[in-house]
Amino acid sequence: MFKEDTLQDEVILITGGGSGLGLSMAHKFAELGADIAICGRTEKKLQEATEELKEHGTDVRWYSVDVRDYEKVGEMIESIVSDFGKLTGLVNNAAGNFLSASEDLSPGGFKAIVDIVLHGSFNCTHHFGNYLIDDKREGNILNIVTTYAEDAGSAFVLPSACGKAGVLAMTRSLAFEWGTYGIRVNAIAPGPFPTEGAWTRLFPTKKFEKKYLQKIPAGRYGEHEELANLAAFLMSDLAPYITGECVTIDGGEKLSAGQFNFIDGLMGRGKLKAIFKMMKKKG
Ligand code: HXC
Repeated sequence: MFKEDTLQDEVILITGGGSGLGLSMAHKFAELGADIAICGRTEKKLQEATEELKEHGTDVRWYSVDVRDYEKVGEMIESIVSDFGKLTGLVNNAAGNFLSASEDLSPGGFKAIVDIVLHGSFNCTHHFGNYLIDDKREGNILNIVTTYAEDAGSAFVLPSACGKAGVLAMTRSLAFEWGTYGIRVNAIAPGPFPTEGAWTRLFPTKKFEKKYLQKIPAGRYGEHEELANLAAFLMSDLAPYITGECVTIDGGEKLSAGQFNFIDGLMGRGKLKAIFKMMKKKG
């Protein structure tokens, strides 16, 4: 689907791009010709990621910035524009999360996650949007949310659910408001994709990890390449008429809410079909 130059002439900032899904997206974008800026809190991680990303031959730079700091984010956007000559895309990927019973959350714990996820995404988007509007440039924003950002929410990850729901609302609000400036704003809602950050915080044991798989019709976790391809598509000129959209990529996990879906897990499909046959005969 992609040509080698699909993202040529793009300069894309990926927050939290030093590891996990952020780094995988950075690899894909660079492979398709984009220059890459990554930011995060851990310099060593960013330095190593930058060295890795240079293998694709495009310009790659790192910026040590906590997305919670509005002023520092503004300085970073200015530096990126000065270093690369422009900035054309932003991926709000930086996130924080942990499992906790909601009654045991401290206000500080709730705030830490909402600050990273919601305020961090706002900070980057606000500075980037203003730069684009002032410079009369078109651009792309992609927000990485989760499947529980919409509809259901989720037990035991309350701050993340609240933060990500806010980011989804921001996606749709700005897609409309900034459409007139040629700025597209989309989101991806990933199901479980193995990353060190998510797995250590959200999947406490191997048994838990195995059990979780039963929720996914595809019977497996997502591959980073699959999400990176989707992100590249949404960030490219292959999707000029898509905005305000949230694309779920979860092997069907989100559909588990279907009223009778659970009966598949009660017994094997063969037994289930035999019961259906019996019921049909009885009329
Ligand atoms: C309860 C916790 C906690 C835990 C931290 N806190 N970890 N509370 N359970 N496991 C509380 C602390 O006690 C403190 O509260 C407050 O949170 C801030 O903690 P700090 O460590 O001081 O904050 P900070 O250094 O900013 O760290 C932020 C962090 C950390 C989010 C807590 O884990 C982090 O940096 N994470 C980044 C990476 C990450 O989380 N990746 C996973 C993303 S996965 P007090 O009251 O003392 O102030 C993801 C995918 C979702 O989002 C979809 C999955 C299917």
